[in-house]
Amino acid sequence: MLKKQTLASSFTSGLNGILTVPGDKSISHRSLIIAGMAIGQTEIRGLLRSEDVLSTLCAMRQLGVTIEDDLDKNVIAVKGVGICGFNSPEKPLDLGNSGTGVRLLMGAIAGQPLTARLTGDASLSARPMKRITDPLQQMGAQIGYLPKNEGKGLLPVTITGANPALPLSYSTQVASAQIKSAIMLAGLNARGVTIISEPHISRDHTESMLRHFGVEVEQRFLTDGRHQVTLAGEANLKAKNILVPRDPSSAAFAIVAALITPESDITLPAVGMNPQRIGLITTLIEMGADLDIANERLEGGEPVGDIHVRSSKLNGIEVPAIRAASMIDEYPILSVAASCAQGRTYMPGIAELRVKETDRIAEMARGLEACGVSVDEQPDSLTVDGQKQITGGTTIASQHDHRIAMSFLVLGMVSQQTVSVMNTETIATSFPQFASLMNGAGANIYAPEV
Ligand code: S3P
Repeated sequence: MLKKQTLASSFTSGLNGILTVPGDKSISHRSLIIAGMAIGQTEIRGLLRSEDVLSTLCAMRQLGVTIEDDLDKNVIAVKGVGICGFNSPEKPLDLGNSGTGVRLLMGAIAGQPLTARLTGDASLSARPMKRITDPLQQMGAQIGYLPKNEGKGLLPVTITGANPALPLSYSTQVASAQIKSAIMLAGLNARGVTIISEPHISRDHTESMLRHFGVEVEQRFLTDGRHQVTLAGEANLKAKNILVPRDPSSAAFAIVAALITPESDITLPAVGMNPQRIGLITTLIEMGADLDIANERLEGGEPVGDIHVRSSKLNGIEVPAIRAASMIDEYPILSVAASCAQGRTYMPGIAELRVKETDRIAEMARGLEACGVSVDEQPDSLTVDGQKQITGGTTIASQHDHRIAMSFLVLGMVSQQTVSVMNTETIATSFPQFASLMNGAGANIYAPEV
């Protein structure tokens, strides 16, 4: 349990320098799980050492995978046990705050001969799991919720895997990489082909990493625009080393902070540029951001680039709903950028934000209003009217949501009065160095005296 922490953020005259953000959270989870299902030893470089990823690492150890962490060299060595080599853990697997960790592990367990109980913190225990367990049940896994949570599909859940899993053809209603990845991981031990289609393409790191490990995975777009993945079962994953790119979702906070504070000029080296992750960059450029990407290259099979950002005058825009999957975690910080833009920003098609670490539409709307920004909250959209001045001078309850916490600390940098944020300890789930990195570049984020 992390110690409760309130942080305050006050006016910043500019951010300058080179900010090296940590490794990608999505890819870090996948690297531990997929390496654990391979035969042989994988070395992972650049892994994000955050609470969420460490929860997955502990769970993998409980499942019988040997993981050695060489902190000095920053290399993690994972000795894989194959696609049906996990052991039944003695104690429940506690995934803390991590939706990706718990959902991907459910998939990995569903195709293996073991029983495991999965739990999480209060925020994770309020998030929907049936969207994952329903298809896994169709693949032969036995799923047990507590009777009081059965209808809602809330943690804790006990899963007994099917060995082998049944091949499945499944269409999802939402573009979710977590649903897609859970089904793919279960499908690795199916006798036959698993097919998943989603309304739009969601992040495809699982597809890329499984191909890197030698699994036959095909991706194609159907005539109606849906994205379809086909995965061959009875897979034989061969251990391969992994280099984790830096996280574009963490970079997003520094990018927006530099855009909205005066006299800023920062560079973020080697940030992941997977097209399914950079919707925010496209959107900010449409809003008028002075932002360019240099030195685009492939590192460890993923595209990366160096991002250069300077203070900019932003204009409000309508963000195409079809772009939502490629920037799903970035709407909180985009609404901070929108608060400082000239005119109105309309963000439709974002109902999925209501089932993240917290209801992010409601929490952003409530917090922005408290800071003097006018917003319009609808079931699946948020509209923000840009302000000439942000008043601030309030305390935000971040509801155990790291991205809500970081977003309001960035808003504090341009507010007339200090913005305080409660429960900022959750920032450690994805970006433990957030405050020190921002302060190193010129921000004023501090623990207020009580
Ligand atoms: C993630 C997928 C997204 C995202 C989450 C990480 C992943 O969730 O919000 O932070 O690593 O697969 P959904 O797949 O539910 O949209």
